[in-house]
Amino acid sequence: MTDTKNVFRQVLGQYPTGVTAVTARTADGTPVGMAVGSFTSVSMDPPIVGFLPTKTSSSWPKIEAAGSFCVNVLTSAQENVCRALSARGEDKFAGLSWTDGVTGAPAIEGALAWIECTVRDVLDAGDHYMVLGDVVDLRMGTPALPLVFFRGGYGKFSSGPLVAEDFHDQHQVRLVNAVRDQMQAIASELGVEASATAEIDGRLVLVATTWSPFSDRAAVRAGDRVPFRPPFALPFAVWGTPERRQQWLQGVPDDQRGAAQTVLDISAERGWAVSVRPEPSADAVQRMIAANFHEPLTVGPDGIDPRNVSVPVLGPDGSVRLSLALSGMKAEFARHHLADAADRLVMAARKAERAVANQRTDD
Ligand SMILES: Cc1cc2nc3c(=O)[nH]c(=O)nc-3n(C[C@H](O)[C@H](O)[C@H](O)COP(=O)(O)O)c2cc1C
Repeated sequence: MTDTKNVFRQVLGQYPTGVTAVTARTADGTPVGMAVGSFTSVSMDPPIVGFLPTKTSSSWPKIEAAGSFCVNVLTSAQENVCRALSARGEDKFAGLSWTDGVTGAPAIEGALAWIECTVRDVLDAGDHYMVLGDVVDLRMGTPALPLVFFRGGYGKFSSGPLVAEDFHDQHQVRLVNAVRDQMQAIASELGVEASATAEIDGRLVLVATTWSPFSDRAAVRAGDRVPFRPPFALPFAVWGTPERRQQWLQGVPDDQRGAAQTVLDISAERGWAVSVRPEPSADAVQRMIAANFHEPLTVGPDGIDPRNVSVPVLGPDGSVRLSLALSGMKAEFARHHLADAADRLVMAARKAERAVANQRTDD
């Protein structure tokens, strides 16, 4: 029997989990909580989450009595919170900082996210209970990497490019797979972010992105739509059909259309396009034009250059199938190395095209 338990523990330990702290406030105001790896999202409509406390836990009956709880999703910097709340004892919260959530449960400072719930149901599940909670409040916290628990030890999530799920064209899938590693390599090496955009069913979708927790682009996610209008989607206009170019140019104010046309021409000739971070949006088209005419741009307080560079990845028929972009460059880096970074991207695009062309002949 002991052996069965060990095998169970060992085999199930192959499955990594995130780490949360489930907290609550007792009737007399005392904060209670426990580290929980069994947290899971259950239902979106209605919003329900769940977790499994062991029947021997002394914290769970207190949380159940409170009737509501806060799930604090821990970051990789919060191992100390996990250790504090997984220890048996009275004063688990000494040394922790928190604010009151809407349910009164402690929302621990520095967490990745807070999910507050009322207890919906408690089901019997062997030596555990399965608790279902109705979500009453949701908040994003610190943009950081999550704490991960694996084979009995703590680690952190290491992100490769995140890839959107919603594209079905085999050729595009192959192209994205062929560029992912290079996107990650360029992003890590140059300290920038890389993304890939594809046209899917006539809409532009950000299909893959490297992700930095330190970036203001952390809110941009694989799967997001990109509008086909200036200042967005520049590579799809530069390397698109003449009709696509015209369609895109129609979105440029009349008095800037001539300059925008020149931007398309010089980008096509150079082999890479320069666009700008579209905030502030009021004059984003003007700023994109200026960036292409080497006019200096205002660098934001974050020290990040507003310029992005992008290159097309072409299909066998010469049509643009993906655009690869670099963004989030430090101003100093961009001032000296924008063209070098663009060249790296061009090489990555050619390599992906070749890899996919070879796969096609192998099929
Ligand atoms: C990473 C990690 C994940 C855990 N996940 C769970 C869990 O899902 N369910 C559970 O009952 N205990 C879990 N524990 C154990 C409890 O946090 C903790 O040991 C226990 O609740 C402390 O005892 P108490 O409940 O009597 O205060 C986990 C501990 C760690 C370190």
